[in-house]
Amino acid sequence: MDKKISILDLQDMKENGEKITMLTAYDYPTARILDQCGVEVLLIGDSVGNVMMGTDNTLPVTTDDIIYHTKAVVRARKRALVVADMPFMSYQVSIEQAKREAGRMIKDGGAEAVKIEGGENMEEVIHAICNIDIPVMGHIGLTPQSIHRLGGYKVQGKEEGQREKLMADALAVERSGAFSIVLEAVPLSLAKEITRNLKIPTIGIGAGIHCDGQVLVIHDLLGLAGNFRPKFVKRYANLETETKKAVKTFLSEVKNKKFPTDKHSFH
Ligand code: KIV
Repeated sequence: MDKKISILDLQDMKENGEKITMLTAYDYPTARILDQCGVEVLLIGDSVGNVMMGTDNTLPVTTDDIIYHTKAVVRARKRALVVADMPFMSYQVSIEQAKREAGRMIKDGGAEAVKIEGGENMEEVIHAICNIDIPVMGHIGLTPQSIHRLGGYKVQGKEEGQREKLMADALAVERSGAFSIVLEAVPLSLAKEITRNLKIPTIGIGAGIHCDGQVLVIHDLLGLAGNFRPKFVKRYANLETETKKAVKTFLSEVKNKKFPTDKHSFH
């Protein structure tokens, strides 16, 4: 088995110019396959709401939801670093709440790190969680938990003053002790500047080629997300079509008494 990935390996990868790969995983079989492929980081994202639970956005997702999915991922994972997303209202109320909920992700879920959305506004929270030895991944730019304030899923950092604000957010996340940071839906020139200015690795989604690593939601990559297809997603397979083909063949074979054959029967 390849050596287990830790947060130190991600730092080394940035320093050596080796790109980091991160994908979301929410279940045992998917986590097993992604781990076997060599993906360095498995993220139990709160995107579990959109892609697994059918919610309109990530806001209804709870700590219990993330822990349930994290446990399944951890059982399958041999090598990758497992990061659990802190869902909306699990860290915004108080530092005590944030530490307790982050602790549950590690103790009950088996995650090795947590991810938190926010920049300067979350500096104290990130610092407090890092201080109890729980590694934190930051997340700035388009932060889906801020959907109502942002007024939609829009590219961030294009308006007057936003670039400076996002740079300040990135520096605050690094200063607070985070080991890496997700940059979501920001112009590639800004992602490049942030990546150059930070010592910790940046992991981009819709943030261009210059980030230290890339993350995608696994359902988007595999073509299992219906018509949802933002510009930054590359679909590497179309499993929706493949699945429909397989299921329709099963239906037809059962209806036409072609399955099961003798080969699939006990004597
Ligand atoms: O919830 C999620 O899947 C995420 C990634 C898109 C970074 O936050």
